[in-house]
Amino acid sequence: MVQRRPLVAGNWKMNGSRSESATLLDGIRKGVSAASRAEVAVCPPYILIPLTAEKLAGSPAAWGGQNLSVHKSGAYTGEIAGPMLRDYGCTYVIVGHSERRTLNGETDAVVAEKYGAAQAAGLIPILCVGETLQEREANQTEAVVARQLDAVLDRHGIASFRNAVIAYEPVWAIGTGKTATPQQAQEVHRFIRSRLAVRDKAVAENTRILYGGSMKGSNAKELLAQADIDGGLIGGASLQAEEFLTICRAAD
Ligand code: G3P
Repeated sequence: MVQRRPLVAGNWKMNGSRSESATLLDGIRKGVSAASRAEVAVCPPYILIPLTAEKLAGSPAAWGGQNLSVHKSGAYTGEIAGPMLRDYGCTYVIVGHSERRTLNGETDAVVAEKYGAAQAAGLIPILCVGETLQEREANQTEAVVARQLDAVLDRHGIASFRNAVIAYEPVWAIGTGKTATPQQAQEVHRFIRSRLAVRDKAVAENTRILYGGSMKGSNAKELLAQADIDGGLIGGASLQAEEFLTICRAAD
């Protein structure tokens, strides 16, 4: 049985003043331990990455971005390139978050390009997939997740997942407090892993699949006890140091 190291990553989304973030980062730094089995990462807004790098430097915690341009540099006003994230010590970058797919029109093809741009810059993409409530109720969950996953698999191949993380985020659970049950989440995680396994069993077994969607300190243990849930991508609960650290400890 492969032992995948759990990863708990905080997606701060568009939240946090400089002073609030400094306090949050101090709390996280105090609470992470090199002895813990779980890997911890935070993905703040771009403008807070330098502060994050300063506060977490030398700690066991990693950090990352929430998005990136498909371009390495150039006349793309308002964009941030992967090499810039690497310049500030980022390890990870979230790609294909449902909020970017819906609010910024990011198609499966764009997400696949961003996934490739992340790896080209030496970053580990956290590839988000997940269905809407309407799609779930229409029994389309597996079809949607398969389509989103295949867009990356067909473009970059299964071997690229040796250096990637997947996050299953049912859209209907994001920010709603309506968490998927451990069984619902495990079913989709198992489906994702089996879809990878068709192409390469070893890569499938070694790929970390995180759950995201109202994971809290109170429900993390039960979710993380599932065989194919290898950690969490945490939104709201990552903005409170103690709540976030409770989830990290549940992953140990
Ligand atoms: O990327 C993680 C995020 O979408 C989950 O948000 O607030 O439901 O934990 P939240």
